[in-house]
Amino acid sequence: MLFEEFRSEIKHIQSHDDLNRVKGKYIGRKGLLNDILKDLPTLPPEEKKIWGQNINNFKKQAEAILQEKQLLLTKSLKPSEGVDISIPGKRQWMGSFHPLRLTLDQILDIFQTLGFRIETGPEIETEYFNFEALNFPPDHPARDAQDSYFLERGYLLRTHTSPAQIRIMQKMTPPFKVVVPGKCFRRDAMDASHSPMFHQIEGLVVADSISMGDLKGTIEIFAKRFFGTDRRLRFRPSYFPFTEPSAEVDISCGVCGGKGCQSCGQRGWLEILGAGLVHPHVFKSAGYNPDTIRGFAFGMGIDRAALLKYGIPDMRWLFENDISFLEQFKAVQ
Ligand code: PHE
Repeated sequence: MLFEEFRSEIKHIQSHDDLNRVKGKYIGRKGLLNDILKDLPTLPPEEKKIWGQNINNFKKQAEAILQEKQLLLTKSLKPSEGVDISIPGKRQWMGSFHPLRLTLDQILDIFQTLGFRIETGPEIETEYFNFEALNFPPDHPARDAQDSYFLERGYLLRTHTSPAQIRIMQKMTPPFKVVVPGKCFRRDAMDASHSPMFHQIEGLVVADSISMGDLKGTIEIFAKRFFGTDRRLRFRPSYFPFTEPSAEVDISCGVCGGKGCQSCGQRGWLEILGAGLVHPHVFKSAGYNPDTIRGFAFGMGIDRAALLKYGIPDMRWLFENDISFLEQFKAVQ
């Protein structure tokens, strides 16, 4: 009886609203079927079983019929009545990692596989950690207000990540290997190869017997893994107050292979980092005995490395946040 009624009502359904109403009336939470179900416990066991089965069958069939009706309704809808299935779907816009993040992650990965631990240091430093403890003479040009951002009461924005060397030596016990990535600041005008805010990664290895050979081997492994095995390295003697001996490391130009071209200024080589053996005065500042301990340190520009790795011609592109530039790094996750 009830089922016949249901069937005839289905026949008259014209819209989704009608359909929902009929659905609610029969099989909804407050529908007729549930009303009957409520009375079920009062029936004798034999009848209970039969009614139970009937209700179940009704429900199953009704659901199937309603579903079919719904499909028919959806198909027969005119575009103005509902969803226009001819409109292309909305594509979810996906961001990508910034080239600096990608570069840093790759660098950190390589050093981590070599057993280096990742540490950090403060961006606001004291003059003591930034210069004095690192054996900078009082008249060094970096100490000039023209070159660094000085704050009040002896603070400044660190000009390199090297002050972290002292902080780490003070808190750790040798032997250890650490890398310290982070932001640095210098009073440089922004151009294609300079930025007043830039990123460095400092490396520091301290143990009782460390030589230039260890430094060279580590840098070679890193550079070949990061830039590719076809690139050659060159160590040039240099000077830093906090290392002795000191070196600057160049990598053969990826564009001309070392012959000299426009992108390497005809030199065939590009500088990637400064390095050297930790100066005895630095060990003293950190409270170590320079007679019994050795170490090497290096400092590399991450922005520079990103430009070299991805062939980006202008450092400003890293900071302009131009989506059409940044989107090109989607493939490099
Ligand atoms: N701090 C130096 C710079 O900013 C780089 C460096 C780090 C050199 C460690 C030697 C050892 O140029």
